[in-house]
Amino acid sequence: MRHFLKETDFTRDEVAAVFAAAAALKKSRGLPTLHTPLDGQSWGLLFFKKSTRTRVSFQVGVRELGAFPVMLNAEDLQLSRGETPADTARVLSRYLHGLVVRCHEHALLEEFANVGGIPVVNALSDFLHPCQTLTDFFTLAERWSGGNPAGLVQSLQGRKIAFLGDTACNMANSFILAGALLGVEIALAGPDGYAPGSEIKAQLEADKLAPTWAFTTNPFEAVRGADAVYTDVWVSMGAETQKEERLREMRPYQVTAALMAAANPGAYFMHCLPAHAGEEVAREVLDSPASIIFDQAENRLHTQKAILAHLAEVNAGAKS
Ligand code: CP
Ligand code: NVA
Repeated sequence: MRHFLKETDFTRDEVAAVFAAAAALKKSRGLPTLHTPLDGQSWGLLFFKKSTRTRVSFQVGVRELGAFPVMLNAEDLQLSRGETPADTARVLSRYLHGLVVRCHEHALLEEFANVGGIPVVNALSDFLHPCQTLTDFFTLAERWSGGNPAGLVQSLQGRKIAFLGDTACNMANSFILAGALLGVEIALAGPDGYAPGSEIKAQLEADKLAPTWAFTTNPFEAVRGADAVYTDVWVSMGAETQKEERLREMRPYQVTAALMAAANPGAYFMHCLPAHAGEEVAREVLDSPASIIFDQAENRLHTQKAILAHLAEVNAGAKS
């Protein structure tokens, strides 16, 4: 049984296939020749944290692939009254054909994947947000490949992305992992004390990937030569008690027009959203022509449909 809990659960070739499928699904959306590889199935979408984009894009995507989406808030399940994750996973797998989960500890995803017997997809954990990074790289590849679906992944090779602000968060970790998988340089700039941690370094080692990231406390150094500048909220879900100190420490890393001007000409501004204008990014940058934030948000739908379709294909192949 194949799952998608981290970027490196797919090979580079599989990412290329997912990107080509995402481009095709995007083009054909709404046409009568629907691709419905999940026909007749039911998929659970289990959320322990808030969500706008992930929740809606998965619900719509699952339905468009032919399956019924079962929305589950963790608080409404017996899980919140002490039923174990393992028992919950075993029960859910008797009803569902797959499970998309947004949670705190990454280990919970692994437990669901290990005991459930149905494919599990990571819709964000404290460690990684792989559906977002795959979408973000697809969004850039659409622009850099010159419209050639076969050249999407290739177009990323040798590019540089600067990631500013909370360089120890799930999005930063995901860029480190996806960057190493796809040959993209990741320049992280954040405060002292927010350098990437041991968990993501261990993951790169476990995947036998050479690191393509570097960390600096100087935001101008990170954006120099960058083809895209990325940021995320300074206070991730679960870090609310540290809000005051984070806002103070990360202030020098706000993405401003001056920082964008120091990146490569034509560099894109990116954000996984939700954004807090005036904190991690200046309003004028969010609203500037360089900003591709809503294309990223839209592409969540197409890329995630391609991820689910790919899992369906490989898991069906493994069974037969
Ligand atoms: N980017 C993202 O995952 O958004 P949501 O938290 O709204 O799902
Ligand atoms: N780092 C953010 C991402 C939100 C999509 C968080 O975990 O809250």
